Amino acid sequence: DVTREFLQQLPKAELHIHLEGTLEPDLKLKLAQKNHINIGQNTIEEVKKSYQFDDLASFLAVYYPALAVLQTEQDFYDLAYAYLLKAKDNHVRHVELFFDPQAHTSRGISFETVINGFYRATQDAKSFGVDAQLIMCFLRDFSKESARQTLLEAKKHRDKILGIGLDSDEHHNPQMKFATHFENAVSQGYHITMHCDIDQVDSIDHIKQALEVIGVERLDHGTNIVENPDLVDFVNQKQIGMTTCPKSNSFVSADMKGKEITDLLAKGIEVSVNSDDPAYFGGYISENYWALAEAYDLSVDQVVQIAKNSFNSSWISDQQKRNYV
Ligand code: ADE
Ligand code: ZN
Repeated sequence: DVTREFLQQLPKAELHIHLEGTLEPDLKLKLAQKNHINIGQNTIEEVKKSYQFDDLASFLAVYYPALAVLQTEQDFYDLAYAYLLKAKDNHVRHVELFFDPQAHTSRGISFETVINGFYRATQDAKSFGVDAQLIMCFLRDFSKESARQTLLEAKKHRDKILGIGLDSDEHHNPQMKFATHFENAVSQGYHITMHCDIDQVDSIDHIKQALEVIGVERLDHGTNIVENPDLVDFVNQKQIGMTTCPKSNSFVSADMKGKEITDLLAKGIEVSVNSDDPAYFGGYISENYWALAEAYDLSVDQVVQIAKNSFNSSWISDQQKRNYV
């Protein structure tokens, strides 16, 4: 039977998690105190009470201001290291971590401070068996020029970054706004993926832009493709991985999109289950597997297939994949 314990012990890859979304209330308060930043809350209960959101925009309005507590390279290290220990507990063998440099450079923190702290934590995680890589995201509500500069700054750190992604507020910020930067990223050898958040205005158009024009290798969320059978066929034929996030979905919409996820799984699409912003959405990766498995009565075969999909749609080498699937 599929139990919480079984799901925790199942070896998996995590492909959709924002390092900034792993900032737990206790670390947030600790860093606020150390760095003398007033975040408006003084206890864990007060921080948790401030987590009131019911859509993407109201979530992001809570999420970004709190990042002010991150100041030094060590702060970024500590944030990533705390997550990587949780990854180990959840039997995550490989993780591709999103980070948002512009959320920090825009408030005066250097790109180096961010990348060096995060990267050093990924290197230290090797000692406890977690293979971690970084995916740098552009903030889609920032300008094209800001994205261009960010890609340029990343050049000196090319060896520390596996791929480029796109996140933040999708409303009025279509994928095509950044098409030239993604083309440039591909020419520099980065892998590419993009958020196509659930139930957005123009979801299907955005998904088409990502798949048919820009040529992403994965879709982050993207479950609205079920509305368009041609896109479902496209994703199936091209083996585009889809990184779904059940608990996140429950927060930013009315449900976890379990019907969409299980339908896509049944069609043979490489859907994975991930935690997105676990410090805000109430659980790490195993809890996301459990939420879906419990609500949709998943079989052992189904959850094992999801875990296999997570490795197959990851950006590890085919040789490494053979260790897991
Ligand atoms: N940044 C952090 N989590 C996000 C999400 N679910 N969608 C868009 N941007 C994000
Ligand atoms: Zn996300």
